[in-house]
Amino acid sequence: MNHERLLAELSAFLRIPSVSTLPAHDADCRRAAEWVADELRGLGAHDIQFLGSDTHPVVWGRGPEVPGAPTLLLYGHYDVQPPDPLDEWTTPPFAPALRDGRIYARGAADDKGQVFCLLKAIAEGGRPPVNFRFLIEGEEEFGSKVLFDVLAREPQRLRADAVLVADMAYIAPGWPAVYTTLRGICYAEITVRTAKSDLHSGEYGGAAPNAHEELCRLLGRLKTADGKIHVPGLYAPVRPPTRAERAAWRKLPFKEADFLKRRVQARALTGLKGAPVLERLWALPTFEIHGITGGFAGTGAKTVIPAEATAKVSLRLVPAQKLTTVQKQLAAAVKKLAPRYVDARVRFLHGSDPAQIKLGHPVFGLLDQAFKETVGRGTVPARAGGSIPVVPALAKGGAPILLTGIGLPDDRLHAPDEKLDVEQLWDGIRVFSRFYELFGIERR
Ligand code: BES
Ligand code: MN
Ligand code: MN
Repeated sequence: MNHERLLAELSAFLRIPSVSTLPAHDADCRRAAEWVADELRGLGAHDIQFLGSDTHPVVWGRGPEVPGAPTLLLYGHYDVQPPDPLDEWTTPPFAPALRDGRIYARGAADDKGQVFCLLKAIAEGGRPPVNFRFLIEGEEEFGSKVLFDVLAREPQRLRADAVLVADMAYIAPGWPAVYTTLRGICYAEITVRTAKSDLHSGEYGGAAPNAHEELCRLLGRLKTADGKIHVPGLYAPVRPPTRAERAAWRKLPFKEADFLKRRVQARALTGLKGAPVLERLWALPTFEIHGITGGFAGTGAKTVIPAEATAKVSLRLVPAQKLTTVQKQLAAAVKKLAPRYVDARVRFLHGSDPAQIKLGHPVFGLLDQAFKETVGRGTVPARAGGSIPVVPALAKGGAPILLTGIGLPDDRLHAPDEKLDVEQLWDGIRVFSRFYELFGIERR
């Protein structure tokens, strides 16, 4: 492997600020799609198409045809989350920098670095006897609407013997994982309006309702300090992990104290009392507030009673919960918990159902073997707290879905100083090329 060349190529990809949620970056998303398409062309792929959108296209392609060989669909995403807060980055998010064997940039681990591994593994492994299909999207971080529409129109794109999704991490350094569930998500804005317009806080203070105060109270009622979410019906379909799962999780290299000290780096963990941390992360729904706007938050001071305030929130959903049901439940809960004199509205921005993957198919054994041979340990089954919205739709194609990845738990996805360990990058290329080889031989 020519490390220097590969790092230069990955850096070019990472320099494109393809933030899918911000319209100002539409042209950058398009440029990232073109980077992927060029890469596919370099691999000798054909039938390369941009599907569904001019600005956030799904990049589709087929590898060189190998008659009689099995078909593997590779999924990843070229879009990234917004990089702010910018002043908390040691070096700028879109100026990839190498430090202590790590490459720092937005998207290094999530997911450009991993898409890079999937693609580079094909040439590095000497072009294995596999019919590759590529589905690299540009809207994963904003709910994957474009890809959902493409797959609803053209489900035949999912025809494959297996789907490989590389958008996750090892469970601990040296411990690769294969995931059996992903949480779903229900992303919404809750807006409260308390008066026709803002009011002088001296003239009216003491007698007029305050939108921020009402919003805070509402949010505080939706989730209480004991970690309980007060959305009626929300927990009804939630099943605890099986005894076998619980026993397996206790053997994972995961210590709650280390998780607090090294990863969360806070003074305490919060959440549902009595539930082990892995269950809170993997098997229970959540309610998080992402940001609150409205009123006066500029420089200096202004004495005003705000008439409107908005919170961006999301719930994570676990298997058996349904997005459409949770949306109705949240809207009803907001209505119920807001006082009568407050106008409270909920607007849904994006969402997805949770995913559940059964590991019975022999192809999971090949992934396990590829990791074992390459990095010295096979894949441990785990669940994921995060979401990849399109996975339930991919599963509808009927092929087994391999949810895995080569990131590490401390990669700081969506946060300042996101990074990828360079050794993980080389291992990733080696692991996937070995997997392709095994898949090509064994699945014939
Ligand atoms: N790669 C992540 C999903 C992930 C993270 C899975 C950690 C397992 C562990 C993905 O890019 C992601 O961040 N998804 C978003 C989806 C949402 C914006 C619709 C998420 O989970 O917040
Ligand atoms: Mn991702
Ligand atoms: Mn992400």
